Amino acid sequence: MTSIINGKEIAQNLRDKIKNEIIELKNIYNSVPGLAVVQVGNVAASSVYVKAKTKSANEVGIKVFDHHLEENINQDDLLKLIEKLNNQINVNGILVQLPLPKHINEQIVLDSIDPSKDADGFHPLNVGKLSIASHNDENLLIPCTPYGCLLMLKELGIELSGKNAVVIGRSNIVGKPMAQLLLKESCTVTIAHSKTNDLPNVCKNADILVAAVGRPEMVKGDWIKKGAIVIDVGINRIDINKDGEIKTKLVGDVKYSEAEKYAYAITPVPGGVGPMTIACLLRNTTIAFKNSNLS
Ligand code: GUN
Repeated sequence: MTSIINGKEIAQNLRDKIKNEIIELKNIYNSVPGLAVVQVGNVAASSVYVKAKTKSANEVGIKVFDHHLEENINQDDLLKLIEKLNNQINVNGILVQLPLPKHINEQIVLDSIDPSKDADGFHPLNVGKLSIASHNDENLLIPCTPYGCLLMLKELGIELSGKNAVVIGRSNIVGKPMAQLLLKESCTVTIAHSKTNDLPNVCKNADILVAAVGRPEMVKGDWIKKGAIVIDVGINRIDINKDGEIKTKLVGDVKYSEAEKYAYAITPVPGGVGPMTIACLLRNTTIAFKNSNLS
């Protein structure tokens, strides 16, 4: 029987742990972690994510500072806001929801965030630390989605060391940091992408397959090695025809109905990676708070 990795439940446990930790931190420091959430414009998916992040942060006792800016804000004004947040003492984490509008240079914005407040772990300093194996994970700010995937893998309790891991997708947000995390666990890691030759056969070699391409149901069942673990990062909204009516449905990057016939364990969409991403954001914010009180 294929086991379904319950991201909802694992995330709930992590959120409970963080909530208790924040109660203890409040007793010690008489303050709670603060998270600034910056959204520019009104991309529908971003609004959904920002709402979910804000709600979860509030629930665990993190104070949220909401900054929803007009689509046409200029880059300098956005940088000024980030500078202000960098200096705001009760803000421990800063999250700039991506994507940003085309006229804004995303990397310049991410680089401007104080690395000690980098709730997403996207700043070059934190990206670098992640790639240096000697840093201790405990107080590192690690990109939330790949860290959530790793926690789900660890929850299975299987040995990761020596496994062949294939990550499909080379984004800075998921693919590259995912590969670093798996490498840290002593997996043999392949990063596949849109130019990879014979992708089905590359995937077939994976004991651990992480799909992060953003293409609905691209990974077919017969791409998957029997007994592999499949982590589906994709969240794609597609139209389906149900009884003559067009409805929308969320699907991953993996064709679930086929993949479950091959996989030992698989994450569902929704209810897999999504909730873990949010829980890991709360983790990063709490770590940033603790680090700031230690320094
Ligand atoms: N857009 C899609 N995923 C993410 C994420 O993890 N963090 C931010 N800030 N933006 C995103």
